[in-house]
Amino acid sequence: MAQEKIIAVVGATGAQGGGLVRAILADPNRGFAARAITRDARSDKARALANLGADVVEADIDNEASLTKALQGAYGAYFVTFFWAHFSPEKEIEEARIMARAAKAAGVKHVVWSTLEDTRQWVPLSDNRMPTLMGKYKVPHFDAKGEANKAFTELGVPTTFLLTSFYWDNLIYFGMGPKKGPDGKLAITLPMGGAKLAGIAAEDIGQCAYGIFKRGPEMIGKTVGIAGDHLTGEQMATALGKALGKPVGYNAVTPDAYRGLGFPGAEDLGNMFQFYRDFESYFCGARDLGVARSLNPELQTFDQWLARNKSKIPLE
Ligand SMILES: NC(=O)c1ccc[n+]([C@@H]2O[C@H](COP(=O)([O-])OP(=O)(O)OC[C@H]3O[C@@H](n4cnc5c(N)ncnc54)[C@H](OP(=O)(O)O)[C@@H]3O)[C@@H](O)[C@H]2O)c1
Repeated sequence: MAQEKIIAVVGATGAQGGGLVRAILADPNRGFAARAITRDARSDKARALANLGADVVEADIDNEASLTKALQGAYGAYFVTFFWAHFSPEKEIEEARIMARAAKAAGVKHVVWSTLEDTRQWVPLSDNRMPTLMGKYKVPHFDAKGEANKAFTELGVPTTFLLTSFYWDNLIYFGMGPKKGPDGKLAITLPMGGAKLAGIAAEDIGQCAYGIFKRGPEMIGKTVGIAGDHLTGEQMATALGKALGKPVGYNAVTPDAYRGLGFPGAEDLGNMFQFYRDFESYFCGARDLGVARSLNPELQTFDQWLARNKSKIPLE
């Protein structure tokens, strides 16, 4: 046990970090130990990780000293930020800066940073195909993560940049599941036209991150994109219908209509889906299914994810 390399995981009680902790602990030949970082070691989720064998350590990324302390002695660190907890791109960039400084101070040897594209490199603010949001962003929760990459590079933190994909779990937890229309028929709504969406089981993000840590120093400085499937809205609806045993349609609304849905973050997500749609070949190309499978041989396809999770999808 003593020679196991510790991987400290921010967001360990959440989707991405939880997948990584479970991947480490499930590996019988592991050379790694999992240190789960949480704000509350007594929560049910934190206790569940402790019961699996994780070392649970309290820290809050808003408190840099607590994070630096939680990273002491760790070989690796997984960093994810919490945009949907506060909806602030500036705060998200600050979270990344704090994590980069803490990793540097603690001498972490390998960071995997969960990031996304700064979409302004494809859609400059002057491009009116989609509105500029919060004064200087196109897709705030993407742009902030992409902009925050430099927090790691500028400090020389040994980092792998992990480009994640749309969680299929959004169909369960983010209100994106099939809903009944005025005709009483179930349909999913995406402003993607006929373009393919790079999606993934949230659990597989952490599993792929574990594959990156196992490969080690050769991955430092690299950007790795992952997805479990590239599917059109039509293909997703057909797969959902098959899994649920009832027809599910695909409601291909315009990005403008999606932005106008009025829920918190609707404009951000409308721009995000438009980015997926308009830059489909770049976006899916940057998330090669073979690369993801080589990091995580158990990578789930959408059909496999549905077989395991269909009973959790609320049908409204
Ligand atoms: N939904 C998608 O399709 C999608 C796709 C790609 C990327 N993302 C990105 O994923 C990120 C969220 O990751 P996730 O889904 O894994 O999160 P999550 O499931 O919501 O969990 C986040 C965890 O982070 C911890 N946390 C929150 N604030 C913290 C703080 N101040 N200090 C320390 N820990 C804190 C919480 O743990 P405790 O309560 O135990 O402290 C929580 O369990 C977002 O930035 C989002 O943009 C989402």
